[in-house]
Amino acid sequence: MPRIELVVGDLTAEHVDAIVNAANSSLLGGGGVDGAIHRTGGPAILAECRQLRTTVLPDGLPTGQAVATGAGNLHAKWVVHTVGPVWPGPGPEEATRRRLLASAYRESLALAAGLGAASVAFPAISAGVYGWPADDAALVALETTAQSDAAPALVRFVLFSERMHVAFRAAADRLALDAS
Ligand code: APR
Repeated sequence: MPRIELVVGDLTAEHVDAIVNAANSSLLGGGGVDGAIHRTGGPAILAECRQLRTTVLPDGLPTGQAVATGAGNLHAKWVVHTVGPVWPGPGPEEATRRRLLASAYRESLALAAGLGAASVAFPAISAGVYGWPADDAALVALETTAQSDAAPALVRFVLFSERMHVAFRAAADRLALDAS
């Protein structure tokens, strides 16, 4: 089980081995975390994403999967791009999408560990533009991380607001996780 940290801050300012981007399937940028990573990381990251699209990912990155690039000007060795699901609203679709959100975390953790990253920083995937309710987004993030059998030694969740930090703290307490 990795050491889990919860902090309020800007993901693009993190000094870790791998930074996880809440991307979309196109891998060609967007708003939120995606926009911030490309703005701060610089054009080298987008150039690698374009290269992926013209080679191994012609149809884009499927929801729940992860792919790595360099980190450009960020204080990291890699950016792990993953695509979370859009929240479908309450109903039968939610369980399926929730498994895709868990997959986004699990695949990102495994890929970062496979690259040799000793530390990884995550945003609250799908909890912004994609509309996933904060409390459940936090639960999925933390339960998936706690259950992962391949993860860097340090997993840090970098939350962009005190509200999201409270949601993650409450989820850690509910799961009886030791998150500092
Ligand atoms: N650092 C940390 N967290 C951030 C930052 C940042 N610089 N910017 C935004 N966030 C937070 C948001 O407040 C939210 O809690 O990251 C979480 C995820 O929000 P989004 O970035 O909107 O990601 P998501 O909900 O997964 O939607 C993905 O948004 O930006 C587009 O191209 C992206 O289409 C994709 C979609």
